[in-house]
Amino acid sequence: MQKVLQWIVIIIIIIINGNAATNDKRADRKLVTDSDSGVISIDCGVDESYTDNTNNFPYQADDIAVIRFGQTRNISSDYEHSNPGQINKQLKSLRSFPDGKRNCYNLKPKQGKNHKYSIRAYFEYGNYDNKNKVPIFDQHLGVNLWRHIQLIKVNSILRSEVIHISSTDTIEYCLVNTNQGVPFVSLLELWPLGDFNVYQPSLTLLTLDLKGRINLGGSKFDFIRYTDDIFGRSWLNRKIYDMNPKKTSLSINLDTLDNTYKLPIEVLNCAVEAVNLSSSLEFMFNHSKDEEYYVYLHFFDFLSNSNQKRIMNISINGPDGVTEPPLTLEYRKPTTIVMNIEKGNGIDNISIEATSDSDLPAMLNAFEIFRVIPETFLATQQADVDAIWYIRDIYNISRIDWQGDPCGPTGFRWEGLTCSGENNPRIISLNLSSSKLSGRIDAAFSKLTNLEILDLSNNELTGDLPEFLAQLPRLKILNLSRNNLTGLIPESLKEKSHTSLKLSLDGNLGLCQTGSCKSNKKKWNVKLIVSIAATVAVLIIVSVVVLIFRTRGPGPAMFPKSNMDEQLNTKCRAFSYSEVVSMTDDFRQMIGKGGFGKVYLGLIPDGENVAVKTLSLSELQGHKEFISEVNLLMPAHHRNVVSLVGYCADGGIRALIFEYLPGGNLQQRLSDKNPNVLEWNERLQIAFDVANGLEYLHNGCKPAIIHRDLKPPNILLDENTRAKISDFGLSRAFANDSDTHILTNCFAGSHGYIDPEFQNTGILNKKSDVYSLGVVLLELVTGQPALIGTPNNYIHILPWVNRKLEIGDVQGIVDPRLQGEYNRDSAWKLIETAMSCLSQFATQRPDIKEIVSELKDCLSLVMPIERSASQRRSLSVKGSMQIEINESDICGPNPR
Ligand SMILES: *[C@@H]1O[C@H](CO)[C@@H](O)[C@H](O)[C@H]1NC(C)=O
Ligand SMILES: *[C@@H]1O[C@H](CO)[C@@H](O)[C@H](O)[C@H]1NC(C)=O
Ligand SMILES: *[C@@H]1O[C@H](CO)[C@@H](O)[C@H](O)[C@H]1NC(C)=O
Ligand SMILES: *[C@@H]1O[C@H](CO)[C@@H](O)[C@H](O)[C@H]1NC(C)=O
Ligand SMILES: *[C@@H]1O[C@H](CO)[C@@H](O)[C@H](O)[C@H]1NC(C)=O
Ligand SMILES: *[C@@H]1O[C@H](CO)[C@@H](O)[C@H](O)[C@H]1NC(C)=O
Ligand SMILES: *[C@@H]1O[C@H](CO)[C@@H](O)[C@H](O)[C@H]1NC(C)=O
Ligand SMILES: *[C@@H]1O[C@H](CO)[C@@H](O)[C@H](O)[C@H]1NC(C)=O
Ligand SMILES: *[C@@H]1O[C@H](CO)[C@@H](O)[C@H](O)[C@H]1NC(C)=O
Repeated sequence: MQKVLQWIVIIIIIIINGNAATNDKRADRKLVTDSDSGVISIDCGVDESYTDNTNNFPYQADDIAVIRFGQTRNISSDYEHSNPGQINKQLKSLRSFPDGKRNCYNLKPKQGKNHKYSIRAYFEYGNYDNKNKVPIFDQHLGVNLWRHIQLIKVNSILRSEVIHISSTDTIEYCLVNTNQGVPFVSLLELWPLGDFNVYQPSLTLLTLDLKGRINLGGSKFDFIRYTDDIFGRSWLNRKIYDMNPKKTSLSINLDTLDNTYKLPIEVLNCAVEAVNLSSSLEFMFNHSKDEEYYVYLHFFDFLSNSNQKRIMNISINGPDGVTEPPLTLEYRKPTTIVMNIEKGNGIDNISIEATSDSDLPAMLNAFEIFRVIPETFLATQQADVDAIWYIRDIYNISRIDWQGDPCGPTGFRWEGLTCSGENNPRIISLNLSSSKLSGRIDAAFSKLTNLEILDLSNNELTGDLPEFLAQLPRLKILNLSRNNLTGLIPESLKEKSHTSLKLSLDGNLGLCQTGSCKSNKKKWNVKLIVSIAATVAVLIIVSVVVLIFRTRGPGPAMFPKSNMDEQLNTKCRAFSYSEVVSMTDDFRQMIGKGGFGKVYLGLIPDGENVAVKTLSLSELQGHKEFISEVNLLMPAHHRNVVSLVGYCADGGIRALIFEYLPGGNLQQRLSDKNPNVLEWNERLQIAFDVANGLEYLHNGCKPAIIHRDLKPPNILLDENTRAKISDFGLSRAFANDSDTHILTNCFAGSHGYIDPEFQNTGILNKKSDVYSLGVVLLELVTGQPALIGTPNNYIHILPWVNRKLEIGDVQGIVDPRLQGEYNRDSAWKLIETAMSCLSQFATQRPDIKEIVSELKDCLSLVMPIERSASQRRSLSVKGSMQIEINESDICGPNPR
């Protein structure tokens, strides 16, 4: 095949000198400029917010709400672009950062975390400082290096862009001084990208840095942005020799196209075509050897007709490189192909050629190239970040290094802090000695729960010495000396200071060591003591009543039968041993065997089948579990949770009596020995049911119920293959809001389903159930068990799936027994949801509520549920993935 054309796209940084083309604005295109859209546009260095009258676009000033330091400057008038189009007005002013190593903008998009954003920064130096020397500096997104910023000329305009799914509500955009000049920024934008499916090349957390976005076949100076592109993307037009530019004048109605990438008309209506059938379209691009890339090729065939097929082979670096199966373009159907170069050659060749059975030559409308930004660091744990930012703000600590992430990356840790490790670090010491702090000791200090050292000495702190400092579990050193604290030293602190805590309180003249505090301290005491006494009295009365209740009556001591209980749960009742014997016909038919005993089929007097789960007494642990299970299950009633019908705690037997589900359990149904293969829609329904049941346990029950052992044997099916969660034998109620519980006796969960974070920390929480759910979801998709292989030689389902994803074999993930009979979109989405549940760090896993809504969307893809158009729009997904783009085009050519 002949190479007719080679075009080198040098994509290290594309810098355009030149003149922005005039905007021929279309009134009919919907602009995303209203405040509802969540678009943030910051014109750096201006005094106040304004609306640009050339395009009605609102710009906000970069005031204290978004940036705390820096200087506002204007570029030299020699370099102001006179052309009114595009963003020249915004590039006139800038903010420079002569002080500090790192300065960060705080972007708080309305949509918050777990949404996808395109974030763009623009730079024009324009000799603002009269030094005629272009600075070089770095740009960080959060704790990770985004890219180096190096402008080629004084009047160059550089834009960088990332696509990013933020895992936090605040996005930190930072400029970093690398000792090669003063960092600055001219314009900062953030655009929400509503649709989860676009720019989502992988299920792992990716940050995508835009290297180039090229529109082909258009006229040279067209420049596409804002009003043309609903995502605010700019497309650079490139004229390419030896390719046939094609343009259609037929009208294109964006509303009727299935246009996932929301390509603007200006991209759809032009393309290039190879000169003849035997020549190919070839593009070369240059990049660093070790970087991973994604290439997006956008096709929209407006030329073919029903008699002519256009079939193309696409490859990167030849037939032995990355190839696609032959692509047949459909007339006027937008098609995007995503290709991944894990490790390129330094120069890579994209080649598109017509296959031998094609009637028409190769064509292409546009392409984009993204570099994957390596995620070198993980941000500090969010709770610590929130607490330390809050402390900084309320005590007016204006240290220049106290910006951005408190611990990371290496070399940027805030002075006065020590952090644990590098990934997801915690703050372990805080030294604000001699920092002119005034006011009371704020409760925010107690949110830094990993704190070992807190030094607030030599400040002007006033008020009481708060008790919450004693609750910091790891605190070893607390220095509050030389402040102006008053009042009593709390007993708890005194006690701790005898054991684990080194406490310094010298120089606080108003603090009393003993209970006999002088003068003014007594004022509050009378009232407080009265109310404490009253509270204590009430408590005593209540406990006496409870005690009386507990000790009388024949029922199990744990379950006083108040009227309340009966009303709540009329069905659940106590059965005697003999009743259990008769309902199970002397334990005749065993239908299962759980972790704690056997399960028998029973028939209760009102004619209903039940499952009687017995508990052998020899298992001492079992008794506790029994109590826990009854307590938890009694009030739990939900269509996706197995209901308790009754219990028996009589004589030597402990039994739980559940509603009976004839469909068996999910493990049996998924087993490859079962010829009755679950259909795809049934699997989606089960996935949704299980998530829904779990959401009820987590959020609908008070106290919340953590299942702790969610797995297919504990998921039961009814006669309609609807699922219910059972077996709360390991559950515990979590009464407090922190949702966390440190395990004391340590058995929990089943191999293959256990949260990896639990294995490290011993802390189980709702997110541990979410992890187990993720495994169950993968089992539903793949039909594989959690541990694939033999007991001695197995692989966990997660790496198994990951491997397939890495090679792009999504079809290979889906259970082959379905024989291809499944809906691809919903499968993709279900995998995506499962993978988000399986994030290694609990904080990155979604809440069960989000999962339920994802799965509902999944289900609606195969079983359309009636919903209004507006609801359909909200289908677009969140998810815990992170994607960033950073682009290097283009503000329009300028002839200067
Ligand atoms: C920049 O120019 C504007 C007018 O165009 C002016 O109001 C502003 O004060 C200037 N800022 C600086 C820092 O010189
Ligand atoms: C296709 O075009 C190339 C370049 O113009 C030319 O060299 C070649 O002969 C053409 N092939 C055919 C089959 O026309
Ligand atoms: C590709 O980039 C490298 C450095 O980034 C440079 O040395 C090389 O000359 C470039 N090659 C081409 C063909 O531009
Ligand atoms: C890409 O094309 C150039 C020019 O034809 C060639 O020198 C280079 O070897 C090709 N690279 C690959 C990886 O095919
Ligand atoms: C296109 O690719 C297929 C393999 O996917 C190959 O068999 C065929 O020869 C290729 N066609 C051309 C014209 O290169
Ligand atoms: C912090 O500064 C703001 C404004 O500069 C002021 O209103 C506030 O009182 C200060 N707070 C403290 C605790 O000093
Ligand atoms: C806190 O910092 C001061 C100096 O800034 C130092 O003297 C003091 O020892 C530090 N405190 C601790 C607990 O390290
Ligand atoms: C507490 O801080 C004061 C003042 O900074 C210092 O003199 C003292 O040595 C500190 N005490 C301890 C135990 O670190
Ligand atoms: C402590 O507070 C009192 C009254 O609020 C004030 O008179 C005194 O100067 C303060 N002492 C110090 C060391 O700040």
